[in-house]
Amino acid sequence: MQDKDIEKLIQSEKKRQKSVINLIASENYVSKDVLTALGSELTNKYAEGYPGARFYGGNTIIDDIERMAQNRALSLFGLSSKKWHVNVQPLSGSPANVAVYTALVPYGAKIMGMTLSHGGHLTHGHKVSTTGMIWTQVPYGVSSGTEKLDYEELLQIAKKEKPALIVAGYTAYPRKIDWKKMRMIADACGALLMVDMSHIAGLIAGKSYPSPFPYADIVTTTVHKTLRGPRSALIFSKIDERGLYTKIDKAIFPGMQGGPHMNQIAAVAVALREANTKEFAQYTKQVIANAQSLAKELKNLGWRIITGGTDSHMVLVDTWMDGTGISGKVASEKLEEQGIIVNMNTVPFDTRKPFDPSGIRLGSAAETTRGKTEKDFVKIAQKIDKILRA
Ligand SMILES: Cc1ncc(COP(=O)(O)O)c(C=O)c1O
Repeated sequence: MQDKDIEKLIQSEKKRQKSVINLIASENYVSKDVLTALGSELTNKYAEGYPGARFYGGNTIIDDIERMAQNRALSLFGLSSKKWHVNVQPLSGSPANVAVYTALVPYGAKIMGMTLSHGGHLTHGHKVSTTGMIWTQVPYGVSSGTEKLDYEELLQIAKKEKPALIVAGYTAYPRKIDWKKMRMIADACGALLMVDMSHIAGLIAGKSYPSPFPYADIVTTTVHKTLRGPRSALIFSKIDERGLYTKIDKAIFPGMQGGPHMNQIAAVAVALREANTKEFAQYTKQVIANAQSLAKELKNLGWRIITGGTDSHMVLVDTWMDGTGISGKVASEKLEEQGIIVNMNTVPFDTRKPFDPSGIRLGSAAETTRGKTEKDFVKIAQKIDKILRA
């Protein structure tokens, strides 16, 4: 690179990524091919519009790329192009969610989403997000006893509040979600069911976690977490008489975005192809086995694991344990000093504040990409224990 300042910083960050144990649940390491597509000349092209209907010339090749990304997305999740449409243009997960609400939920109407402190995402209607400013969140959480979803309680809330749309799929929830029950709850109040599978998309692609597609009206996802692609997002919508997808396409462009980032869309296509392999399916099984190994060993060592374990790539640890341990902030700082990168996280019914909560969130996706197995995760748990108790 001519720009030595930036080159130096890129090299430093590369070195940092290689030298740490990365347990950030929402991160992963993409392939060289994904990086090549991201760094390609495709970034030079303006392509406002959709394949076959652009507002700029010179887009024949771009159309092929976007269509390829769409076809690969549908194929990866076993979807027919007659029944499902996918928009591959959202710049990231948050705008994808905002686009769905913009398209389908009248301003001010109710969106039923999990509260942030129980594991929901900001864009599920939290008040500091535009989603909470434009729409009204009907909050739900997990049950105090099990720290898992209580579908009966959700049904009661839905029947009472009658939201226009229900969001299922979370940022900090380690367990399986019963999509069929979520569908029944949505039907009981006439709501749309939107599944935000951002965290678990890779696991679903690898058939290691139940698919929401038989039950959802809309499915949004980021591409950069367990799916191991570039920072980006997809919106899948069912094709039927409601015309969901035309409204969503319009909400993305011209509603919220201009020219799509075609280098990013090509990189998405690359990642989707990589995920549609036996090796990737095996990877997702290993991701879950590793997270379970991590949770089990931490539990053996005396730490409280939220919900008692995990069915995914994610482990939530209560490090505060009613004041007998240390806060999540102190825990994450201590771990970072020793080269283990995690994020602090609230635990359900947290008595502490989000900027110094009671827990940490761990994930196994990134380190599994680097080839680690269950035994390595036992060692990581032991290292974490030693650091937190020092
Ligand atoms: C469930 C969920 N949805 C949406 C997002 C937002 O994605 P982005 O950070 O790409 O805007 C996240 C990010 O962590 C997430 O966990």
